[in-house]
Amino acid sequence: MYQRTVFITGGAGFIGSHVVRLFVNKYPNYKIVNLDALTYAGNLENLKDVEDKPNYVFEKIDIVDAAAVNELFKKYQPDGVIHLAAESHVDRSIHSPLDFVYTNVIGTVNLLNAAKDLWLGTTHPSGGTWEQARFHHVSTDEVYGSLGETGFFTEATPYDPHSPYSASKAASDHFVKAYADTYGLPIVITNCSNNYGPNHFPEKLIPLMIHNIIHNKPLPVYGDGKNTRDWLYVIDHARAIDLVFHKGRNGEKYNVGGFNEWKNIDLVKLLCKLMDEKLGRPAGTSEQLITFVKDRPGHDLRYAIDATKIHKELGWSPSVTFEEGLSQTIDWFLNNQEWLNHVTSGEYQQYYKKQYNLDAPK
Ligand code: NAD
Ligand code: TYD
Repeated sequence: MYQRTVFITGGAGFIGSHVVRLFVNKYPNYKIVNLDALTYAGNLENLKDVEDKPNYVFEKIDIVDAAAVNELFKKYQPDGVIHLAAESHVDRSIHSPLDFVYTNVIGTVNLLNAAKDLWLGTTHPSGGTWEQARFHHVSTDEVYGSLGETGFFTEATPYDPHSPYSASKAASDHFVKAYADTYGLPIVITNCSNNYGPNHFPEKLIPLMIHNIIHNKPLPVYGDGKNTRDWLYVIDHARAIDLVFHKGRNGEKYNVGGFNEWKNIDLVKLLCKLMDEKLGRPAGTSEQLITFVKDRPGHDLRYAIDATKIHKELGWSPSVTFEEGLSQTIDWFLNNQEWLNHVTSGEYQQYYKKQYNLDAPK
């Protein structure tokens, strides 16, 4: 008999897989159910090391399908939801905004409805109320828009999203807050800065650059390369989610970030330098691959998170420096080139079929 049942949506993705791993290992008394549609970004190879644990279950589900979502809530009666499933890449959102509306907005509302019906409309299987129930919505700092050269995003910064991705995440944040204010649904929201680390899908800046440096391909830097992001090691994000899910105040939002800003061009040059060292190439070799390309439309200039609230209230701070995290990340990609090759060849999408003896995702 498990103490709790926690749904983690998007658990086959980059950040979700680290959250699943942390929870499955740290909480053997919880049943962890990973809900994931296995889109192009979902990769069950990320979870090879936990897939046989007795407290882990995988359910292939599209959260846009309300009936399927309701069915799973009836089946498992979770008292916790950590919601990460999303379309997550800004460039894709520019080309296919509706996909972002479906998953990020409608998918989130489907989960909120199912949680509301269960927690506010039924008695707990033990006969009492759903005392521990909590819906943790995992969001991004991109909902706040773009900063100038100075200043930070705090939890009080007004929302001002610019890309279809950030607009869809902002809408989902508003729906989560609305369900708390209107129905009394127990919720918390975290807004995190850019993550990096093992299992990062190589369409995003850091893993794309690592991949291209390994294969001597051009390193496309958008615009003048002066756009700035605040980078956090993915395992530190997972630790923050654990803390806020268990100890965050009901109805509150918490910003998560590493006080670690880098202009894109400086970060790409640092990656080139570290990769040359690790690959034993002469200094300056990889930098020659840098290619400035057409800027992303609506490209936000700068993100920077003020993480004082989560630090002061919950004692969270990053556990690794950027130098350590980046070095570990590069080592991981160099030691897991099979993972990278499977992702770039599409073979990772066959893993599900082999492992579960079912049809591979389309
Ligand atoms: P990801 O793209 O790597 O993974 C998303 C996962 O969601 C995949 O496994 C995918 O299969 C699944 N998914 C997509 N659509 C689905 C659907 N309709 N039904 C069920 N599952 C679906 O994303 P990520 O980078 O790991 O981000 C996870 C969450 O964290 C997202 O909500 C994102 O907005 C947020 N976030 C990401 C970052 C970042 O730097 N990557 C920073 C802050 C917040
Ligand atoms: P990305 O990893 O897509 O994250 P986000 O857009 O959500 O912040 O991009 C990080 C930064 O790197 C962003 O300013 C866009 C830039 N970028 C490039 O310059 N070249 C690339 O090939 C990619 C993917 C991103």
